[in-house]
Amino acid sequence: MNHIISIRDLERPEIDCLLDKAALIQANQYNETALKGKILALLFFEPSTRTRMSFDAAMARLGGTSIGVDSVEASSMAKGETLADTVRVVSGYADAIVLRHPKEGAARLAGEFSSVPVINAGDGAGQHPSQTLLDLYTIRQSMPLDRIQVGLLGDLRYGRTAHSLAHALSRYDATLHTISPKGLELPSAIAEELGEDGTEIIEHDDVSRVISELDVLYVTRIQRERFPDSASYFKVASSYRITPELLTGVKERFIVLHPLPRLDEIDPRVDSLSHARYFEQSRNGIPVRMAMLQKVMS
Ligand code: CP
Repeated sequence: MNHIISIRDLERPEIDCLLDKAALIQANQYNETALKGKILALLFFEPSTRTRMSFDAAMARLGGTSIGVDSVEASSMAKGETLADTVRVVSGYADAIVLRHPKEGAARLAGEFSSVPVINAGDGAGQHPSQTLLDLYTIRQSMPLDRIQVGLLGDLRYGRTAHSLAHALSRYDATLHTISPKGLELPSAIAEELGEDGTEIIEHDDVSRVISELDVLYVTRIQRERFPDSASYFKVASSYRITPELLTGVKERFIVLHPLPRLDEIDPRVDSLSHARYFEQSRNGIPVRMAMLQKVMS
């Protein structure tokens, strides 16, 4: 089955092929009826603006239709139905399923019970492969992906977008500079996997010490919803902020990315700088997800 559960399931040529396809789509070279008659099920058991709406829009642009549920409360899971049974049933209604779920591993489990392709739209602190593809696509619009210096700033413990991106960048021999509040460091299991893949990871205490070396700074918010209680969240909340002053002296090709939503970790004054690419990054979700939908459903 043609699932996309983790970015680690995709080899570099497959990633490159999807990014090339997205570039053609962005240049309007696509068939508007490519997925006519196909149905996409959007199962979102956690909040989403970008991922849900851009998959929906991507499907519409390819002539297909979307159906879905937006919460546990709005589905029969509220009555106690398991995810496995839900997926078994929904795969009888649709040609592919996009699933967001608060539990790590949920998308992998869904793939075992689905008779149609499953795309992981975020599973707890696990993976978010469609986000990673649009992140790579956005970087590639500014510079070649090989051997770049990337800063990963923020909640690297719970941040699935950072986990996915780190794995993807290891395919392109990136050097990763990690900067996180105490207790929110990259999990050692992920660091070990990256090390086994030959990726150099350098930990820093302060982003200002490394900013001039970076090609890309990937900023993430602190994932409040994954914390055990409010007190532990407030210990680390608002502990870093990107400002225009911090960005003086960066490389010419340097870009700032953020998967969004942002809270206070990027000063809005950064938005108008040429380095700020996070809204463009979010728009790139459409061509990238159109490419993904065609891959899994065509
Ligand atoms: N980046 C991202 O996954 O955003 P949403 O939670 O709004 O889908």
